[in-house]
Amino acid sequence: MILFDEKTGIFHLRNAYQSYVFQLVRGRYLLHRYWGRPLREFRDSYPLQPVDRAFSPQPNAYENERTFSLDVLPREYPDAGHVDYRIPAYAVELENGTTATELFYKSHTVTKGKPELTGLPQTYAAEGECETLCIRLEDAKKRLAVTLCYTMFADCSILTRSALFENIGTEAIILTNAASFALDFSDHAFDRMILFGGHAAERSLERVPLTRGVCSAESRRGASSHQMSPFLALARKNTDEHKGEVYGFSLLWSGEFALKTEVEQFGTTRVVGGIQPIGFRWRLGVKEKFQTPEAMLAFSAEGLNGMSQAFHEAVRHHIVRGKYRDAVRPILVNNWEATYFDFDEEKMDRLAACARDLGLELMVLDDGWFGKRNDDNSSLGDIFVNREKLKGGLSAIAESAHKRGLKFGLWFEPEMISIDSKLYHAHPDWILRAPDYPVSFGRHQLVLDLTRAEVRDYIVTSVNHILHEEAIDYVKWDFNRHITDAFSAQMPSVHQGEVKTRYVLGLYDILERITRANPDVLFESCSGGGGRFDAGMLYYMPQTWTSDDTDAIQRLSIQSGTSFVFPPITMGAHVSVVPNHQVGRVTPMQTRAFAAMMGCYGYELDITRMDYRERETVKRHVALYKKIRETMQLGRFYRILTPFDEVKNETAWEFVSKDGREVVVLYFKILAQPAAQLRAVKLTKLDADARYEITHEELAQGLSVDGAGNPQMHLVGRTFYGDELMERGIGVAKIDTDFAAYLWVLKKK
Ligand code: GLA
Repeated sequence: MILFDEKTGIFHLRNAYQSYVFQLVRGRYLLHRYWGRPLREFRDSYPLQPVDRAFSPQPNAYENERTFSLDVLPREYPDAGHVDYRIPAYAVELENGTTATELFYKSHTVTKGKPELTGLPQTYAAEGECETLCIRLEDAKKRLAVTLCYTMFADCSILTRSALFENIGTEAIILTNAASFALDFSDHAFDRMILFGGHAAERSLERVPLTRGVCSAESRRGASSHQMSPFLALARKNTDEHKGEVYGFSLLWSGEFALKTEVEQFGTTRVVGGIQPIGFRWRLGVKEKFQTPEAMLAFSAEGLNGMSQAFHEAVRHHIVRGKYRDAVRPILVNNWEATYFDFDEEKMDRLAACARDLGLELMVLDDGWFGKRNDDNSSLGDIFVNREKLKGGLSAIAESAHKRGLKFGLWFEPEMISIDSKLYHAHPDWILRAPDYPVSFGRHQLVLDLTRAEVRDYIVTSVNHILHEEAIDYVKWDFNRHITDAFSAQMPSVHQGEVKTRYVLGLYDILERITRANPDVLFESCSGGGGRFDAGMLYYMPQTWTSDDTDAIQRLSIQSGTSFVFPPITMGAHVSVVPNHQVGRVTPMQTRAFAAMMGCYGYELDITRMDYRERETVKRHVALYKKIRETMQLGRFYRILTPFDEVKNETAWEFVSKDGREVVVLYFKILAQPAAQLRAVKLTKLDADARYEITHEELAQGLSVDGAGNPQMHLVGRTFYGDELMERGIGVAKIDTDFAAYLWVLKKK
């Protein structure tokens, strides 16, 4: 519900989970007043206090009111260089070189539903599911108008924000900063949480006390990146997974970004987030508009899991689209770690036969099927099949999968080009490169200039051609280097500061056209693993390859970290061979399987080389997963223990089916310990009064049972009330092996 009180100027955006309040003051300024648990009514028990603060200037109209300074007031969308010294939400340069603007309130509208943002990923909802407030601000000198949009959803604790810029003046304006949102908290008693990492080591959680000055979680890589996720949270000190308050921010943007905090002189905290301003210069001609990406703001009074639930709800029901939105995902086998570039039709056929035997459902042909590509030196851009390598073309491989009842999937990397390619010979100017300087490489490849319409058309036509000619059910869309030398040969110099942003908008245009033309295809995005795992990509492609690191133990933290924002159904997770190809670790098959079951399950190893015992184990895991995957993919997910906790040695995840009738619990202990404490896993969010039967229990491989003297819990068939399972927990049988994994399935009676 969105309320506006004309007398007080209070805007109160409220649902069952949160209230967000700001105020129109002096008919001009938007001041942030409250965000947190839902309030019946905002009557202003803690009014703004007029204080004369030295060195905090006044706007011209209030020269004689030294207690009125925008430098000390909590604001909704602060300007730059004009009576507020804190970090700005936007900045401009005018033709005469000045940077000053003054945005004043002009009008507002409240509508049911949510207006569409052209060309961008966005949250969507039916009319009855949300309300949108749009506030138009205009510059006092009539140069610029900014419309701030706020959408409050009814069914989750999410508020979305974005800003639309419009040049209403008579000369061009350069936008040098255009955040999606900003707001000021009245204190700084927070921990700051970010998800940082690197290639094959994505999304580790860092939680540290929020410090004075400016901190920025950001990417300058042209993509959302492995190194830093477009996510920030501010948690109260006592907040843990299950209780306490936390504010989360996530951007629907796949390009570079900045999420900044500033704790300023009086102890308040400003948060600003959106497109990375470094290098951003967008020239807005007269009457032109610029729409910022959308940001999701989540509030939880129920701990970090509460925040994740809000994000998961939004991603699953208001971002992901299409046929697979509410459908369980097929169990796949991918040939990358099985064969790398060294495959042929025969090998793929053997893989398909074996996959069918194991009960798998989708076979994916990864990199190396096109151009003359047999290593990563050539052929990107040549999106046609390598007939020398695959004599029967893709059809033969697709057929070998389909005749065995498997779906068939294919890898593409359409945004890239190799110098050794037909495409480069035909169009050397289609790349991003700095004029006069030699090109820079990443994995021997260059980045296509997606700001050009003809490049976008080429990609759409060639990918669509393959998808229409061949029977392809799944696409893995990769992006294996970051952007450098962001200069487009076709763009006038005054627009070069737009290239990185226009690249991402160009990508969105391509993705919209390809996914729309192929509604039955399941798309998985990828960027050397999870280098572009963001809410923007999920609008087009419902799942993402979480990481190139397939080691089960690394995946405990990568997947736990990813789950802060994204639900398990969006995370590709595969069982791979041991010793693991990334870290050399040897873990039991069961541990690899249970870690992978947390996401969209699959296998990425040469399954044709497994011995009889391994094969039987895989069959058992696949059969088990088919029974529980609906709960794991379409249910609710909770972190119980993670490698980010003080005791870093354990992980426990809980999945509750949509109707609450089935619960799956996974528990991992990384290293066995002498004199280890015995423990139980305390479940969460069960129905305290209901009875749950433990119907399935799998303990660590190699764990001796009974007769050998070690305790085995024998809980299968036993029934417990939800309160006992939550307060006392499920006992974990003593663990005498490294890398142990347990699984329980419970059924509500
Ligand atoms: C990236 C992906 C891998 C694989 C290779 C192929 O690194 O993350 O899964 O597809 O590219 O080159």
